[in-house]
Amino acid sequence: MSDVAELKVNNQTYQLPVTKGTEDEVAVDIQKLRAESKVITLDPGFGNTGSCESGITFIDGEKGILRYRGIPIEQLAEKSTFVETAYLLIYGKLPNETELSDFKNGLTRHSLIHEDMLHFYDGYPSTAHPMAILSSMVCSLSAYYPDSLDPSDPEQVARLIPRVLSKIRTIASYSFKKSIGQPVIYPKNSLDYCANFLYMMFAVPSEAFEVDEDIVKAVNMLLILHADHEQNCSTSTVRLVGSSDANLFASIAAGICALWGPKHGGANQAVVEMLAEIEKNDGDVRKALERAKDKDDPFRLMGFGHRVYKNYDPRARVIKGSCDKILAKTGQTDPLLDIARRLEEAALEDPYFRDRKLYPNVDFYSGVIYRAIGIPTNMFTVMFALGRLPGWIAHWKEMVDSKNYRIGRPRQIYTGNNETNYVPLSQRT
Ligand code: SDX
Repeated sequence: MSDVAELKVNNQTYQLPVTKGTEDEVAVDIQKLRAESKVITLDPGFGNTGSCESGITFIDGEKGILRYRGIPIEQLAEKSTFVETAYLLIYGKLPNETELSDFKNGLTRHSLIHEDMLHFYDGYPSTAHPMAILSSMVCSLSAYYPDSLDPSDPEQVARLIPRVLSKIRTIASYSFKKSIGQPVIYPKNSLDYCANFLYMMFAVPSEAFEVDEDIVKAVNMLLILHADHEQNCSTSTVRLVGSSDANLFASIAAGICALWGPKHGGANQAVVEMLAEIEKNDGDVRKALERAKDKDDPFRLMGFGHRVYKNYDPRARVIKGSCDKILAKTGQTDPLLDIARRLEEAALEDPYFRDRKLYPNVDFYSGVIYRAIGIPTNMFTVMFALGRLPGWIAHWKEMVDSKNYRIGRPRQIYTGNNETNYVPLSQRT
């Protein structure tokens, strides 16, 4: 293949370099196009735009492949821990024993948040969505750690990474405790990352609490599956905000806000709400399918479809396979799981979904497991944020380490008025 593309615009031909990734993905490099031609490319929603080169995560959406740093997601979900996977994503390789132990120690040491921050929780109404609390509390961390805000200082960045990774789960669990009127539970540093999170979520001061190892394993698996997904909406937001040299706490807070939307991470909450609605309507999945296909109805099948996957999302496959095991472990049955399965089956047989290659995505089955382990519905997207944090950090770090990054600043095609004179108020109709 030629490594130059030709573009003919306004009777002029321009030579554009062609770049190839390690998995043979091809891109036409248009960085110099406007300078040479005054022409820009137009791609609303960035469906066809590569914003960067990245060595973190590979997705083949046609084949349903997902790998972190080259390692298939299925292997990581089965064999790794969330902390080890976070290290892999952020530092580019699996840690050896010393590296893993140092990394874990960093996470343990930074688990508390500044005591003054506890007062913030009193200011939120008890009905506050935990994503609103999470984003503002993470941004507030920048007020408490001014010694780790400079992205160009490697020592500050090294201090910052365990801080944000560790404190986010403390912030998340405190927001849950406040919402149900229970006292916050301080972290217990003898517990590992996920166990400590579950302890802070579900322990109460008045009785002993044992963390169930099978539940810890399930949380590890779910967080691993959510840990990165290349240039998705929230990660692209973190990169965009970070490209202005805003500090990492601020960049992550912006990513949390982007994740909140029901078209992105908020879909896991929306899925369970949709399944509960179907259950209320006698479990009739056909009605939901008809509504999802109706272009005059804004309803869409939540947890279905994906910008990149035109095949089964490999993460949904792993989660679906674990649902029965977790429900059996917790001694529950969940009618919503049955509805989810029937809905999936009906959608995959329906020409509308087949023609558009719409399959269950990562959010379709995750809520069933979260429910089984006692996570309330409005905390589901917070769980996604905990999982996605290493990916956000890894992308931010990859960008700031690259040194030659520029501020993200797309262009536009203006479609407004041509030059128009100002009209004084008295002469306006
Ligand atoms: C995540 O990008 C990532 O990597 C995200 C993520 C990650 O890990 O970061 O994987 C996590 O965000 C998963 C997605 C969660 N969202 C949902 O489950 C919400 C429901 N799904 C959609 O709204 C939608 O599928 C998106 C937002 C996920 C993708 O949107 P696209 O790529 O812009 O696709 P589209 O809207 O252009 O859809 C193409 C066609 C359209 O029909 P036509 O106009 O061609 O007739 O498919 C239809 C859409 O109307 N369609 C759906 C549908 N999803 C797409 N129709 C009914 N139900 C749906 N869910």
